[in-house]
Amino acid sequence: MNWKLKAHLMAVISRLPAADQIYHRLQQVAGTNKLHLDRDLERAFELVRLTQEAECSIQQASILEVGTGWRPLVPFVFALSGAKNVYTLDVNPWLTHEYALETWKALGTRLEQIAAEVNVPLVDIRERYRKVDFSVSDLHEFLGQINITYQYPGDARESGLPENSIDIVISSNVLEHIPLDVQTDIHSESLRILKNGGIAVHRFNPQDHYSTVDGKITNANFLRYSQKEWNWLGGSGLSYHNRLRAPAYRTMFIESGFDLRVCRERVDERSLKAIKSGELPLNAEFISELPRDLAVDYMWVVAQKPLQQPQDQPTSESSTETPSVSLHS
Ligand SMILES: C[S@@+](CC[C@H](N)C(=O)[O-])C[C@H]1O[C@@H](n2cnc3c(N)ncnc32)[C@H](O)[C@@H]1O
Repeated sequence: MNWKLKAHLMAVISRLPAADQIYHRLQQVAGTNKLHLDRDLERAFELVRLTQEAECSIQQASILEVGTGWRPLVPFVFALSGAKNVYTLDVNPWLTHEYALETWKALGTRLEQIAAEVNVPLVDIRERYRKVDFSVSDLHEFLGQINITYQYPGDARESGLPENSIDIVISSNVLEHIPLDVQTDIHSESLRILKNGGIAVHRFNPQDHYSTVDGKITNANFLRYSQKEWNWLGGSGLSYHNRLRAPAYRTMFIESGFDLRVCRERVDERSLKAIKSGELPLNAEFISELPRDLAVDYMWVVAQKPLQQPQDQPTSESSTETPSVSLHS
């Protein structure tokens, strides 16, 4: 599909009075929100692995997921892994009882895989799975059976959760859809609700999302446009993606007050080649950035709320931890 066709269509739909409902209906017809079990499980496992890499236990943890979306696969995997409770919130009403039930049923065939991936005894996973009565028809009650609380409308800038109450904040494929100023507020809120030493684990996709429907363009194609041009194509409305580049994300986490424990970045070689050769002419807004940074199309971040030092104790050299930030291509 020609990406501009989709961009113009989405821009027009976004400005109609019933935009949300039309978009949801179109997704159902086109099948774009259908369950991709292998892909979505792998995304949830990535969040689990990052959590484990930061030596943070999911067992009995209180978790907040930012941006539930259509399929509650991430909260399901964390709940099955032994979280005490999972709060998941979204500013849009995409999740339905039908999607939740269909997703939960599909997981029934994957319990062994989940147990192996999250390193939790299969018997525990089976027991948690069996607790759920499939006939419960209210979405909130259904999710409540495995201690998941879904909040719509729920804005991660104001979660309503008490301070120092959460062990882990998670998100999957969300941050690239949120403007910088809103993200800064989300990170401040995360720091408020996280316990000291708690972590924020985010995996996100700072690529031009139209490249997924049009193979003729690279993952960095949107960097050719001015902000004014991009505002119509993908910088507003239902298709919003922010065009923030990897250094902006790194800076945002650090300036918000997090310690960056893990920062992995995937460089898209096709985009890098197009940028370096001039085949992809950059807009003035991006020319001062390193081609490598501009070509990053996936990021995995673990950001930790600092462990506060007692004020009357001077920090000893031996207790100062060096953050292990690894920038992988
Ligand atoms: C691309 S979807 C990803 C959904 C889901 N995590 C997934 O991987 O399928 C991004 C989601 O973030 C939600 N979102 C955007 N801004 C938000 C905010 N301030 N607070 C909570 N959710 C937000 C959107 O409504 C949308 O459902």
